[in-house]
Amino acid sequence: MTEATYNFGMIGLGTMGRNLLLNMADHGFPVAGYDINPDQVAGFEKEGEGKPVKGFTDLKAMTQSLTKPRAIMMLVPAGKPVDSVIDNLLPLLEPGDIIIDGGNSHFTDTVIRDKFLDSKGFHFFGMGISGGEEGARKGPSMMPGGDKAAYLTLKPIFDAIAAKVDGVPCVTYIGPGAAGHFVKMVHNGIEYGLMQLIAETYEVLRKGLQLNTGELHALFAEWNEGRLQSFLIEVTRDIFGFKEPGSDQYLLDRIKDQAKSKGTGKWTSQVAMDLEVPIPTIDTAVAMRDLSKYKVLRTKAAKVYDEPIAVLNVDKAEFLKTVEQALYFSTILTYAQGLDLLYRSSIAYGYQLNLAEISKIWRGGCIIRATFLNDIFNAYEKAPSLEHLLLDESVADLVNGSVAGMRSVVSQAVSAGIALPAFASTLTYFDAFRSENMPSNLIQAQRDYFGAHTYELIGKDGVFHTHWTPLPGKP
Ligand code: 6PG
Repeated sequence: MTEATYNFGMIGLGTMGRNLLLNMADHGFPVAGYDINPDQVAGFEKEGEGKPVKGFTDLKAMTQSLTKPRAIMMLVPAGKPVDSVIDNLLPLLEPGDIIIDGGNSHFTDTVIRDKFLDSKGFHFFGMGISGGEEGARKGPSMMPGGDKAAYLTLKPIFDAIAAKVDGVPCVTYIGPGAAGHFVKMVHNGIEYGLMQLIAETYEVLRKGLQLNTGELHALFAEWNEGRLQSFLIEVTRDIFGFKEPGSDQYLLDRIKDQAKSKGTGKWTSQVAMDLEVPIPTIDTAVAMRDLSKYKVLRTKAAKVYDEPIAVLNVDKAEFLKTVEQALYFSTILTYAQGLDLLYRSSIAYGYQLNLAEISKIWRGGCIIRATFLNDIFNAYEKAPSLEHLLLDESVADLVNGSVAGMRSVVSQAVSAGIALPAFASTLTYFDAFRSENMPSNLIQAQRDYFGAHTYELIGKDGVFHTHWTPLPGKP
């Protein structure tokens, strides 16, 4: 039997689990990892040579190798696998031990598991982890929620392995219950929105301006030096520059145009609809991944509606400036929608979210890290109960300064038949958001006309119903 010397255990030695453990070991924490697959275990031990790590294919032996109270993280695919790991694990643990779900679990599952594990005397918390493979190894952004006391016991480990911005670790206690997984889900929703906007930027530039992949590489490299700087722009820059060894063709040009997903974007939209929070940029991003899968249908439709896409008749340098503005504008609006969802979910679910702290820990390590997060952080630090990001004066200046470019890009692309659905829905969200009067009075009248659903009147209390059709025999 292995002596109980390891401070932290991991179930699931896929890339994320393995890299997080190696990151902990780099910071001097002795760690143990379990995987059902012996190759993963061997790979982990090989990579961890010379570090305080130990791999196991026997779950019981792994749990026995841990110091008490044991701290064990699960990093397995969301859904049933998490429950089956918990089932296998519980007989091997003792009350007081800490179980952490570090995967992208649906927050409603986390609520159920939290109650169940608490009733059995275990500490449990759900923790969103962002940053992918490299983030896990070198410093992720982490969003723990739930059992605060249990989190605080492990805080030194998470502080040590987290990404740092100005020396501050990108990890903070998010809130009670499933708050950590909820915030990670919204992070991913924002990620979906930003990725779709970048993809549409690619579309307008390659179809409207006929830029080739090499030119796009140079453009994104330039943008990444300016206010658009972000991890996703950086990633896109690298993709535009990538050719496989021995090939003179860009890999991107050979990749099928069908986007997959694991569900977190869809969950964000579903929850937003349940809470009646409009996040159309994210909704559109989810829908466009779905439409991309209609390859066969799209190919047929392309023949039926064979309308040539017009190359834009614009000054190239000027148009590139407007595209930069449009992307900046829609980036701000995407974060604003995601943060609105956090603001309102915090009230609905009692999460007590601190949006300044959340934007602070998103500045490093995670997929949506961006220079603009500093502006978001400043806005919420200045006004912690800010109701909507677009009401911050400094953010409003940035929006006002880029909206003209946004209008120009959307209108020109729409006229040319170039699909920019996320750009268009972002702009129309903005225009509706800044409208004191929306045409929704007509919707109320229609509802009352056909369904007697009643309406309210301006300047008069109460609800009213009208017989809208003329009385029989009268004109
Ligand atoms: C992260 C990512 C990570 C993962 C997404 C991908 O924050 O590190 O968001 O969680 O890459 O789940 O999601 P899709 O497969 O749905 O695009």
